[in-house]
Amino acid sequence: MTDSLATIYGIGVGPGDPLLLTLRGAAVLREVGAVLAPRSAEDRDSLALAIARPHLPADCAVLEAVFPMTEQRAVLEQAWEDAARELIAVAAAGRPAAFLTLGDAMLYSTWSYLLAAVLRLRPDATVVTVPGITAMSACAAAVGQPLAEGRAPLLIWPDEPPASLDALTALAPNIVFMKAARHLDALADAVETLGADAVAVRRCSLPDQAVTRDLRAWEAGRSYFTTVLVHVDPTPPTPSPAGRGGEKESK
Ligand SMILES: C[S@@+](CC[C@H](N)C(=O)[O-])C[C@H]1O[C@@H](n2cnc3c(N)ncnc32)[C@H](O)[C@@H]1O
Repeated sequence: MTDSLATIYGIGVGPGDPLLLTLRGAAVLREVGAVLAPRSAEDRDSLALAIARPHLPADCAVLEAVFPMTEQRAVLEQAWEDAARELIAVAAAGRPAAFLTLGDAMLYSTWSYLLAAVLRLRPDATVVTVPGITAMSACAAAVGQPLAEGRAPLLIWPDEPPASLDALTALAPNIVFMKAARHLDALADAVETLGADAVAVRRCSLPDQAVTRDLRAWEAGRSYFTTVLVHVDPTPPTPSPAGRGGEKESK
């Protein structure tokens, strides 16, 4: 028989400004015994921790875990399992534990893998996810441009853009390119070919937030925290021939 665990939380801390952390996230942070913050390398500070810090009580332990920027599944799985064990150890000692993650916890976040790892190790654990404001929401707000309107779909693309954006814009006139820093030149080419509107936002909601429509200008000073919003004007609908269903049915 194993001891019961305190709750384990995954908290989406928002895009950068501590004021964009939700009230619920802040309330949970006031109760936890420890937070676990992600870092991408030993020598990099955790932005998620910087966002959460103003909300942490003085006696809250701060743990940090390195999640390498690699696609080697075995390396990542080991990192997720190690982090899950750290959260479980805090919860087993009787204090709630929280993993901090940027933006929303369920959108391209390490949290989803940790959540699975925690439940694999301790199926009896109570695990709660606290949603957060996504980076793309903050970017749209920063540039005063909607992510999507009416019935127009929105596509989120977290990878290198295809050489032609036609296949993507056929699906949706609004595309959010996340993890865009590595691909700014390619994105600039594709956007120009298409004649689309594109705006890049870097370190949104942070004091050094920057916005540009010249994507190539940022190729040199890359920041991982870069999102590009692309919009194409949808083709106007072809007028339907009279009497072929183009008008609303009258009753
Ligand atoms: C692993 S994803 C995390 C997404 C996050 N969970 C969310 O809900 O927004 C990382 C990407 O999010 C975007 N991002 C995160 N914070 C950002 C910020 N403050 N400004 C602009 N983009 C940001 C960037 O595209 C970055 O490469």
